Amino acid sequence: MKIKYAIVFIFIMALVIIEKESNIISRVSEKMMLRQTPQQTTQTSLDYSNTTQPSQTISTTQGSPSNRTEEQHEKELQNGRRKHILLMATTRSGSSFVGQFFNQHGENMFYLFEPLWHVERMMMNKSAETNNSSLLPTIYRDVLKGLFLCDFSPLEKFISPPPQNHVTSELFRRHSSSSLCEEQVCTPVIKDVYERYGCKNRLCGPLNLTLASQLCLSKKHQAIKTVRVQKWQTLQPLLEDPRLDMKIIQLVRDPRAILASRILAFPKYQTWNDFVHDGHPPENYKEVLQGNCDNIRWAAEVGLSQPDWLRRRYMLVRYEDIARFPMQKAEEMYRFTGIPFSPQVREWILRNTHTTQGKDDLFSTQRNSSEQAEKWRYNLPFTLAQLVQRLCGPTMKLFGYKFVNNAKMLVNKSISLCEDRTFQ
Ligand SMILES: *[C@@H]1O[C@H](CO)[C@@H](O)[C@H](O)[C@H]1NC(C)=O
Ligand SMILES: *[C@@H]1O[C@H](CO)[C@@H](O)[C@H](O)[C@H]1NC(C)=O
Ligand SMILES: *[C@@H]1O[C@H](CO)[C@@H](O)[C@H](O)[C@H]1NC(C)=O
Ligand SMILES: *[C@@H]1O[C@H](CO)[C@@H](O)[C@H](O)[C@H]1NC(C)=O
Ligand SMILES: *[C@@H]1O[C@H](CO)[C@@H](O)[C@H](O)[C@H]1NC(C)=O
Ligand SMILES: *[C@@H]1O[C@H](CO)[C@@H](O)[C@H](O)[C@H]1NC(C)=O
Ligand SMILES: *[C@@H]1O[C@H](CO)[C@@H](O)[C@H](O)[C@H]1NC(C)=O
Ligand SMILES: *[C@@H]1O[C@H](CO)[C@@H](O)[C@H](O)[C@H]1NC(C)=O
Repeated sequence: MKIKYAIVFIFIMALVIIEKESNIISRVSEKMMLRQTPQQTTQTSLDYSNTTQPSQTISTTQGSPSNRTEEQHEKELQNGRRKHILLMATTRSGSSFVGQFFNQHGENMFYLFEPLWHVERMMMNKSAETNNSSLLPTIYRDVLKGLFLCDFSPLEKFISPPPQNHVTSELFRRHSSSSLCEEQVCTPVIKDVYERYGCKNRLCGPLNLTLASQLCLSKKHQAIKTVRVQKWQTLQPLLEDPRLDMKIIQLVRDPRAILASRILAFPKYQTWNDFVHDGHPPENYKEVLQGNCDNIRWAAEVGLSQPDWLRRRYMLVRYEDIARFPMQKAEEMYRFTGIPFSPQVREWILRNTHTTQGKDDLFSTQRNSSEQAEKWRYNLPFTLAQLVQRLCGPTMKLFGYKFVNNAKMLVNKSISLCEDRTFQ
């Protein structure tokens, strides 16, 4: 009898010890993963593509590596044409994060982050008489078309100060594009010239746009992320251009979450908080809020109605779905574009959606994505949520965002505010 108890006791102790050890092991390997994360460049992700990951991360990959590359190769042959992807979004809708799905693709992708920033800045800066915002869609169209054909000259006219001999130190967020920090475009550093958006993984001199254009031409595919285009008037001519094989991905997010995020990120949105305290809505609040929502909805309605010029070229994705199922959604997006999914993207997603590190950095893409996507529910006062619901109702309905009736419901995490939807 005693021996039996002793055996059971020893057995239980052994289990406890094993459990503790494996906890320690998994924690150590998690720490190691975190330590490897800081740089987000093609080079580093290539370096990591061979490192061993903890078993749980391996289990999410499908098929053996050698099988995958064969599959990819086959797909590549089928979809041989150069693809031109436009990620169409609005500020604070998670587009930097989703843009990384393409930026991290690897050596076959030429990715640009918000090139139209230059155009908007210059056009908005002009004196009132010449400020003609009705020209913006046409200018955006021409600049985008140029860039998708690897021609930077239409963009150059809007870079300030103007590039000298096609060389500039001012290209907006150059460092957010892995391509623009590659060896071929990394010219020697010039003493006393300040690189405003200098590369983070290495020191480079000013960007020679001729070299950038050559690099672009040598790549298999292209992707551009922008929060500045919502009008099909801008994009239809690109879709109808036989030189381009356009794929449009429209990224949307709960407008309540977008407002909460803008209030945190942009000083000019601070006045929205006053509304909560004294009931005075900010100036133009209707136009700002409703205008944003309507533009997004109109774009989506046209996209989902699949006119001939957009057939099989439009995809709608919700940020909330990406946050919950990043890998699955990324694969879906790649399937839609006809570009093979790459191990580097898989690595990047694994590294950047399972960590809590860097979550306080507002412009960071490195966070626990599902937790992050829901955080706004604690930041946004109920009165503002109500205001958004009043002004953005049709948009929220179209995308499947559930209304809240009271403050309790807003912060009750067991109630999902995002209905299951598929958009075809
Ligand atoms: C990763 O593996 C590839 C081929 O399997 C090899 O060419 C490359 O040098 C490896 N990279 C590293 C950083 O080990
Ligand atoms: C590829 O996958 C199949 C099963 O899907 C397996 O039978 C085969 O051995 C794999 N080939 C390689 C090279 O791993
Ligand atoms: C905007 O205008 C100001 C003053 O007129 C000028 O100093 C600045 O360079 C302009 N910026 C752009 C992007 O044109
Ligand atoms: C130019 O027009 C835009 C849009 O109509 C406006 O937001 C901006 O403030 C205007 N800029 C000037 C300098 O008037
Ligand atoms: C703005 O541009 C459009 C199209 O070129 C033109 O019809 C309109 O008169 C312009 N408005 C102003 C105020 O310059
Ligand atoms: C930019 O690169 C091109 C192509 O290599 C070269 O011909 C040109 O001289 C470079 N421009 C400058 C200012 O260095
Ligand atoms: C991420 O957030 C989700 C939802 O709050 C939580 O279940 C999960 O444990 C978090 N993961 C990490 C690594 O913090
Ligand atoms: C949250 O919602 C669930 C489901 O409606 C409900 O059962 C629960 O009581 C709510 N919790 C709180 C704290 O209100």
